[in-house]
Amino acid sequence: MKIAIGNDHAAPELKLEVVEHLKKMGHEVTDTGCAVGERCDYPYAAQRVCELIRAGEAELGILICGTGVGMSLAANKFKGIRAACCSEVFSARLTREHNDANVLCFGARVVGAGTALDLVDAFVNTPFSNEERHARRISLITAIENDELK
Ligand code: RB5
Repeated sequence: MKIAIGNDHAAPELKLEVVEHLKKMGHEVTDTGCAVGERCDYPYAAQRVCELIRAGEAELGILICGTGVGMSLAANKFKGIRAACCSEVFSARLTREHNDANVLCFGARVVGAGTALDLVDAFVNTPFSNEERHARRISLITAIENDELK
């Protein structure tokens, strides 16, 4: 799978662990995040990953900042992006299965490397369920995005 990853200055070390893990699993990873010692504002990091997804150059994205919250707020402003901030595996799995989330966010100051890799595995390895009720709710989210929810 093609996966884009980004981070701000709170998370370069954890990002590297995630990149290595994904590559070991055979995924093609585009790392757009900042390096150790650099500083960057998380909305720009979110923008780079979301644009790759919107352009069809990545299927899923992973965004890591201090809490994961800023990244998810920024990512969800991009059309077509459904970003979920998760700190436990159940939500990371269900947000793929039910919400067809295409971006996983988490915080390097919230979860350790072990949990981070478990979140990534749950997110990347879970397909969307394709059940009608979930698809309908996602289309309602899209209607909100387009200011068309009735
Ligand atoms: C940066 O210090 C911090 O604010 C950022 O990484 C993130 O946690 C924001 O949500």
